[in-house]
Amino acid sequence: MSRTVRRPAPVVTVDGPSGVGKGTLARLLAQRLGFHLLDSGALYRLVGFCARRAGVAFDDPAALAGIARELDVEFVAGDSDPPLRARVAGTDVSDDIRTEAAGRDASLVAAVPAVREALLARQRDFRVPPGLVADGRDMGTVVFPDAEVKLFLTASAEERAHRRYKQLIAKGIDATLTRLSAEIAERDRRDSERAVAPLRPAEDAVVVDTSSLSIDDVLARALQVAAARGVCPRP
Ligand code: DC
Repeated sequence: MSRTVRRPAPVVTVDGPSGVGKGTLARLLAQRLGFHLLDSGALYRLVGFCARRAGVAFDDPAALAGIARELDVEFVAGDSDPPLRARVAGTDVSDDIRTEAAGRDASLVAAVPAVREALLARQRDFRVPPGLVADGRDMGTVVFPDAEVKLFLTASAEERAHRRYKQLIAKGIDATLTRLSAEIAERDRRDSERAVAPLRPAEDAVVVDTSSLSIDDVLARALQVAAARGVCPRP
C-alpha cells in the first residue's frame, strides 16, 4: 500500500527588529503570493494587553502563559492598516494593541519562555494552503525552521525611529524622535538579548538592509528571493 506524504503548505518568513518595515512587506508579499498572513507580534501584543487589563503581574510567568493559552482571538481581514483586525472575545482591540505602551508590554511578555511556548502551536496553525507569510522575530529560527523562504530585514535604529515618527505624526499621534529612538533601542536590546528565541537571522535567511531602499525595492528583492526558491506570485 502506498502512502502519500503531503508536504506542508509553503511558508515565507519575514523577521527583523522593530520598525524595519516587516509588516508592510509581509502584507504586500501575502497579497502578491495569494498567501495567508501571520502577524505574530500581534499575538504578543494581545497577551500583554489582556494581562494588563486583567491586572496580571508581568513577573508571573504561569499567569501570563495561561493568558496566552486561553487567548480568545479572531483575526478578521479588512482593508485598513493593520490589514488584519484583532478581536478579543468579539471586541475589536486592534488600535489598543498598536500603541507604544502596548509594544513595550509585548516585548516584556515575549521574554517569558512559557508565553512563547504557549503561542507556538497557535502560530503553526496558520500554516494552511495555499501558503503563509509569517512576520515576527523568530519565524525563521523557531516557529517555521523548515520555511521555504526566509527573509531578515535590517535598517539602522535612526532610520527605524524616523519611519515610526513619520507614521505616528501622519496618524495625528504626538511623538518625539528622541523618545522613539530610545524606545526602539531599548526594545532591540530586550528582543536580542533574551535567553529564549532571541532576535537573530536564521542561518539560511537572506538579509536585506532596507535603510536606503523603497518599499517597492524591498518587495522586488523579496519576490526575487522567493522565486529562486520556487515560491511564485499568483498568475
Ligand atoms: O512586531 P511587533 O512590534 O508587533 O512585536 C511586538 C513585540 O513582540 C516585540 O517587541 C517583540 C515581540 N515579538 C517576539 O518576541 N516574537 C515574535 N515572533 C513577534 C514579536
